[in-house]
Amino acid sequence: MFFALSTRLLFDFDVGANAIKIAQASNVIEDVRSRLGTNFPVPEHQALDGRERSARMLLRQLAEGITRHLRQPLSSDLSYAVQETLLNAAVPLAYAFTWTLLLLGRHPAMQARVRANGVLHGNSGSFDESDELCVAVVREALRLYPPAWALERTCTSTLVLAGATIRPGDAVVVSPYALHRMRSLWNRPCRFHPQRFEAGRVKGYAFIPFGGGAKTCPAARWNVPFLVMGVQSFLGRFSVRTSAMPHALPLVALRPSLDFAVSLRQSGKE
Ligand code: HEM
Repeated sequence: MFFALSTRLLFDFDVGANAIKIAQASNVIEDVRSRLGTNFPVPEHQALDGRERSARMLLRQLAEGITRHLRQPLSSDLSYAVQETLLNAAVPLAYAFTWTLLLLGRHPAMQARVRANGVLHGNSGSFDESDELCVAVVREALRLYPPAWALERTCTSTLVLAGATIRPGDAVVVSPYALHRMRSLWNRPCRFHPQRFEAGRVKGYAFIPFGGGAKTCPAARWNVPFLVMGVQSFLGRFSVRTSAMPHALPLVALRPSLDFAVSLRQSGKE
């Protein structure tokens, strides 16, 4: 059901006009979740402030609009699924986009190379698969700053891993953030070096920004193309400079601290 809804949300129902509102509501809900754990929808008895209540209301109204559009009655399960899809889609895409631009803002030479490879002007663009460099830049940003920085599973059978016994019911956390920065898997892991992704050199479970196995992100195939289109379109209009990389805050998603400064210039006016 999630898969069907995610697809309809992105390609059929136009959430574009509400994108800013969804992003703002997602931020608020993310704060609530990191305060209360991943318990969502937040139980009625939990005290929510006005901002939190209106974020919830907004997502609920969107869920109602979407289910009307799909001509389906709004059961609470469906409403929950739509809200989850909005959160699952808006938050990681927005953060991945932001991290990519911040990194390019710190690496002007790489930014110039990506721009020289071809950017999109106006809204008529489509994903250019030949732009391997931009694909590599997006992947490198997802490696260094995977929005889904920790994935939780519950163990179903006894397992011995690296000398530790994990029993049924134990919670196991796999961290893409830690995995993506392991010295045994990556050469100079903290360095921004998109070329490591060129020519399909990275394989297997060393790189899992979209998770793995049965619960892999249903949008995994589209996320990089979407981000590449976004980056190409942005660089067609602006150049960006980042004074210093913000801290990565490991909340529900890995998001930048808000104390960073960037400067934007319209392209061609440098
Ligand atoms: C850069 C963007 C994205 C990243 C990094 C990302 C990452 C992930 C990850 C790691 C998971 C698996 C969580 C787990 O294993 O516990 C996941 C699940 C999910 N994602 Fe994404 N995602 C992104 C974009 C999207 C988009 C655009 C959509 C919808 C159109 C979406 C919908 C979902 C849904 C519905 C799930 C839950 C799947 C399930 O529980 O079976 N994601 N995502």
